[in-house]
Order: sequence, then C-alpha cells, then structure tokens
Amino acid sequence: MESMDTNSLGKMRQTTRLGGGELRIARQHQKGKQTARERIEALLDPGTFSEIDMFIQHRATKWGMADKRPLGDGVVTGTGKVNGRTVYLFAQDFTVLGGSVGEAHGRKIAKVMDLAYQNGAPLLGINDSGGARIQEGVDALAAYGKIFHHNVRASGIIPQLSIILGPCAGGAVYSPAITDFVFMAEETAHMFITGPRVVKTVTQEDVSLEDLGGAAVHAARSGVAHFTSPTEEGVLEQVRWLLSYLPPNNLTPPPVVDAGDEPSRPTPGLAGLVPNDPKQPYDVREIIETIVDNGEFLEVQADYAQNLTVGFARMDGHTVGVVSNQPQYFAGVLDINASTKGARFIRFCDAFHIPLLTLVDTPGFLPGTDQEHEGIIRHGAKLLYAYSEATVPKVSLILRKAYGGAYIVMSSKHLGGDMNFAWLQAEIAVMGPDGAVNTIFRKELAEAADPEAKKTELVQNYREEFANPFVAASRGYLDDVIAHAETRERLNISLALLRNKREETPTRKHGNIPL
Ligand code: HXC
Repeated sequence: MESMDTNSLGKMRQTTRLGGGELRIARQHQKGKQTARERIEALLDPGTFSEIDMFIQHRATKWGMADKRPLGDGVVTGTGKVNGRTVYLFAQDFTVLGGSVGEAHGRKIAKVMDLAYQNGAPLLGINDSGGARIQEGVDALAAYGKIFHHNVRASGIIPQLSIILGPCAGGAVYSPAITDFVFMAEETAHMFITGPRVVKTVTQEDVSLEDLGGAAVHAARSGVAHFTSPTEEGVLEQVRWLLSYLPPNNLTPPPVVDAGDEPSRPTPGLAGLVPNDPKQPYDVREIIETIVDNGEFLEVQADYAQNLTVGFARMDGHTVGVVSNQPQYFAGVLDINASTKGARFIRFCDAFHIPLLTLVDTPGFLPGTDQEHEGIIRHGAKLLYAYSEATVPKVSLILRKAYGGAYIVMSSKHLGGDMNFAWLQAEIAVMGPDGAVNTIFRKELAEAADPEAKKTELVQNYREEFANPFVAASRGYLDDVIAHAETRERLNISLALLRNKREETPTRKHGNIPL
C-alpha cells in the first residue's frame, strides 16, 4: 500500500514536471525558449530548488476547461539559492495553457510573493505567458489585480526582479513595470499593452512584434527594460550578477565581499581620462572603472538616456550605486529621460541601504521647446526630489563642469550631500563662461573696439572669479578639493566614515514626488 502511494505520488510529480507534454516542450525549444523548469535549473545554485504548490488546479469549467486541469496550473513556484543566498521565485510555463493567468495560477504566485515578503528575500518572476486566461474571465483579471497589489506592497521591502522570456502582453506588463528591474531576452521576449493586430485596427499602423515591444525597443526607447541579452542564459547570468550586489530586504545591509582591491590604491591614471577642454567628450565609464573595486561595474539601463550612467559597483567590498553624467552623450546634459532614469535608480538604492556615489560633469539641463513642452520641469524635479529625499550616504565628486540647476541637483551639499569633493579643474557656477559673459556684458561687448579680445578677457576673468572649485570650497559647499591620484582613497575613507549614518525622517504617510 505504502509503495503504491509513493508510486502514485511519484507519477503525479512526473506528470506535473512534464508540463504541457513532450510536443509542446519541443515547440517551446523550437522557438529558442527553455521550459520553466529548465530556466529555474539554470538560474539557481545546483540542487537548491524546493518547489511548492505542485498540485494546484484551477476550478474553471467553461469552454472545455473541466477536462483540462493540469497539475500546477501553468506556473512553477518555490524557493532556492542564488550565490548561496535565498530567493523566492515563480516561472510561468508556456507549455501549459500558454502560461495564462487564471485564479489558481494567480493565487499560487501571490502565495510565493507572500513568502518572499514575510521572509525578507528577493522575488524573481520569470514571465512567459499569453496573459489573462480567457476561459476564466473576471477571475483572471482578479488574479492579476492581486499580483499587482502584492508587487506594490513588497516594493521597497524586498528586491523584485522580472525576467521576461516570452510574451508579456496586455495588463500583464504592469507587474514587471512595478518591480525594481526588468530583464528581457532578445527576439523571444515581447512586452506591450496591445499587440500588433490591435494596433493596426486602431491606428492603422503596421508594426512587427519586435518593433512594437521587443527587447531593443524597451532597452533603448521606452526605458522599460533595465537589462537585455541575446540569450536566455545571458539574461539569467545578469540576474545572478545583479543579485550579488543586493541585500535580501530593506532591513538587512547589502552583502560585503573581500574584493582584494586595496581601498587606498592610488589612481593617478584618472588625470589623463578627462580632457581639460570642457567641450571635449570622454567616456565616464573609464573613470568609474578606475575608481571602483577591480574595475567591475554593472551598468543599469545602459542603452537608455545614455547621457546619464547609473549602475552598481563595490568600494572596499561594499555595494555602491553609481550615478554619473556621461559627457560622451550630449555632453552629459540632463534631460527628461536622464532625470527619470536617475531618480528611479536613486530611490531603489535609498530603499535598500545602498550608498550613492555621484560623479558630476554636466553643462546643465537641456534647453528647447521639446523638453519644456514634454515637462522637463516636472521630470527634472524627480531627480532633485530623489537625491534630496535619500538618506543613504551620499558622496559626490565634481570632475569638470557643474553648472546651474544641474550643480544643485547632482547630490550637492544643499540637497543633503554628505561628502562633496571636486577635482582641481572643476568649474562650478550659475552658467558656463560664454553664457555668463554674453548675459552680463552684452552692452560692453557690442561697444568694444575688438569684441573678440574683450570676450576672451572676460571669459578668463569669469573662470578665475567664479568657475573654479575654490569659491564653493571656501563656503564649505565642497568638503575638499582632491587630486586624481588620491581619489579612490578619499572616496573610500568617506564611504567608510558614513557607514553608520542614521538620518531620521519626519513621520508622514509618504512624500508627494512629482510623477
Ligand atoms: C488562455 C491561452 C491564452 C490566454 C494563449 N493561450 N493565450 N489560453 N488564455 N490568454 C493558449 C493557446 O490557446 C494555446 O493552447 C497555447 O496557449 C499556446 O498559444 P499559441 O497561440 O499556440 O502560441 P503562440 O503562437 O506562440 O502565440 C502566443 C501568443 C498568443 C502571442 C501569446 O497565444 C496570443 O496572442 N494569446 C492571447 C494574448 C492576449 O491577448 N492575452 C490577453 C491579454 S489581456 P493549446 O492548448 O493550443 O496549447 C490581459 C489582461 C490582463 O492579459 C489584465 C490585467 C489588468
């Protein structure tokens, strides 16, 4: 009797593990996609997956559903380890009813979300689904609503990562959109509110799946995706890499590693990386990689708003969130997309105790009717708000230009920056020398015998009087002017002395960030 029971349990498990059956699995593979269980195997440390709710079944009866009651209901859930640390996860199984979300499927996801939330561990969601299960009607919508609500409740409590490895259509996109980071596989992952056929009907536009909601579009244009890779393996590798920087929850500090890179390592090479001519571009990632431990930098949203570079690195083994203007793109100007990208990243770091290291080299906010009419006032305010609201240690270094509002916004002392440094060639002022001279001396320039010579003289004078780091340092707006070679050491000392920073914020329900 006992062996019969064990046998039947084994058979039930085997049936569940086969998902939608050999044929559908083969179809999944033909599309270049792995099955839910194969993905879990690839993502987790070997042998660590512990599954729950294998025997869940839906209760729908309409449209032939009474005869189609697959065990597990199209989603695999459970817990396991990544880099030796606990995570909770769900993986939708497209081979079972197209991974569609019905009442039981949704309840199963909500359960694992509750477990992640209660136990303070990251939640990973692998999405590959036809969306709301048509045969379950409003129950399917209710299931989605419950998932969204759980996502919002867990926001800022545990890191939530969405891994899109197939279709993610309709309202289904809003769960990933709420989570902290979205990963997409190129060619096989698609996210859209309405598919190409509906788009054609409503707007007469002809658009391919890829051009509407493929990984490239969401990485570079919409900003929905934070990470993309040509393969599923590549995506899962990125997930593991990102998790290595993150704490499990908002009450636990991020992991500390023995980086094997001397915190006081001199960085004289930085001197040659920033051109003296303030109009010359350069790649700020080289600066970041010279400063941080072992040159290891995980850039977030690398293809979106490239005039602002954000990402994770380590300083003396501790995770830091790096935010930097990127003079290689549009001179590192701040615009709408850069502002929203930066604000979201800063708020993530602040929620999870990740100190902010800000590198500044920006001519200011981007002028123009496009930006004004699209709301640079509202969106730029997000970046300012996020920096100002953040209570994690905030350390900044002005590399070259820091003009106008952009000087204030980029982690300045005035927004609560804890340690503010500048290199010798830093220019800090209300605006660049050209603009300043043209504004103040318009009449003198017009009347000068040699306007060009007069302008050169005034620009030189402006640089000496205003556009240098010592005016700010004399007010205490900068804590020090530092040399290139001592940069890593000084930043590490600052981060170390701020490690126990505590800043109380007044009791309130929540602030009202301009959305
Ligand atoms: C039930 C579904 C389903 C769905 C797919 N299937 N989507 N079952 N509800 N929403 C089933 C199919 O019947 C099929 O079952 C199996 O999944 C595989 O689907 P195929 O169409 O054969 O696969 P493929 O050709 O790869 O196309 C995938 C697809 C397509 C692009 C996702 O299935 C599709 O367009 N599905 C509908 C997408 C959609 O409009 N969803 C609702 C969005 S609205 P068999 O038995 O043949 O294997 C929404 C609202 C959310 O989600 C609300 C939140 C606010």
